[in-house]
Amino acid sequence: MGVAIDSRMSSQESPSARADPVDWDALHSAATAARESAYAPYSRFPVGAAALVDDGRVVSGCNVENASYGLTLCAECGLVSELARTGGGVLVAVCCVDAWGAWLMPCGRCRQLLYEFGGHDCAVRTPLGVQTLADLLPQAFGRTDLAAVRDD
Ligand code: THU
Repeated sequence: MGVAIDSRMSSQESPSARADPVDWDALHSAATAARESAYAPYSRFPVGAAALVDDGRVVSGCNVENASYGLTLCAECGLVSELARTGGGVLVAVCCVDAWGAWLMPCGRCRQLLYEFGGHDCAVRTPLGVQTLADLLPQAFGRTDLAAVRDD
């Protein structure tokens, strides 16, 4: 797969040389390809999403709208579904692209979706650069909050 964390970089290199090992261009291409399958007749706002998984594979998704507007599935919904369907794993890096190819900020609901499978450290390509889910969803609610009130 063309998208992978570059294992050739040694720990001797300067922090700037190691700044971002994710191949964002390849993820952008995967998201753009996924966007081609978008079903967005109501908003006319097709979205593609793609992510690098910790085992090196790439998963993607597109938005799927509905005549009952509130049932719309964001591109990230398809992405996490494909993640589960193809073997699970941890999301390392995620991006979304809009109709013009610009980086699109995941909506609030989808940040929570991504957090379930990417955790605090997942890198997200935003219009302002690469940020972590910890930046984008501070004090996130997650499975450890549920565990805190369970006695099994
Ligand atoms: N959309 C996504 O697919 N992901 C987001 O994070 C933001 C919004 C979609 C939903 C809807 O089909 C269209 O963009 C307009 O909101």
